[in-house]
Amino acid sequence: MKIVIINGPNLNLLGKREPSIYGSESFDAFFSRLKASFPDHQLEYFQSNIEGEIVNKIQETGFSYDGIILNAAAYTHTSVAISDAIAAVQTPVIEVHISNIYAREEFRHKSIISKNCAGMISGLGLEGYMLALSYFIHQDQRHA
Ligand code: DQA
Repeated sequence: MKIVIINGPNLNLLGKREPSIYGSESFDAFFSRLKASFPDHQLEYFQSNIEGEIVNKIQETGFSYDGIILNAAAYTHTSVAISDAIAAVQTPVIEVHISNIYAREEFRHKSIISKNCAGMISGLGLEGYMLALSYFIHQDQRHA
């Protein structure tokens, strides 16, 4: 399967950024482990701090890839443009958050992208990305 992980703003600092909330592993280190665990699948990773670049990546991959795993970070709570991009494409999107957004500040409790996503995983750390990937793979095997 061809799956892209898209990470939004400040997630390039994973490992250094508020480790008590986001953990101490960099995304690159995690992504290497992920690729090693799923060698039969084509996994791509994209990160941007810029809203329009995230919209572009969703559009670019959203008609040809089998799945998009998206952590839109702070844009989760604000971006109509990203929410509309998810609705516009055909590829299913799973929303992931490393932290439990419902256990944090009130402004993080609302995701304006969830309603356009196949599902959402929040609060399970980096393992959330792995679970989203397993879901796409199992769904595909079920429908094969
Ligand atoms: C986050 C949660 C968001 O509220 C926050 O702005 C982030 C990361 C998470 O992965 O827990 O940057 O999406």
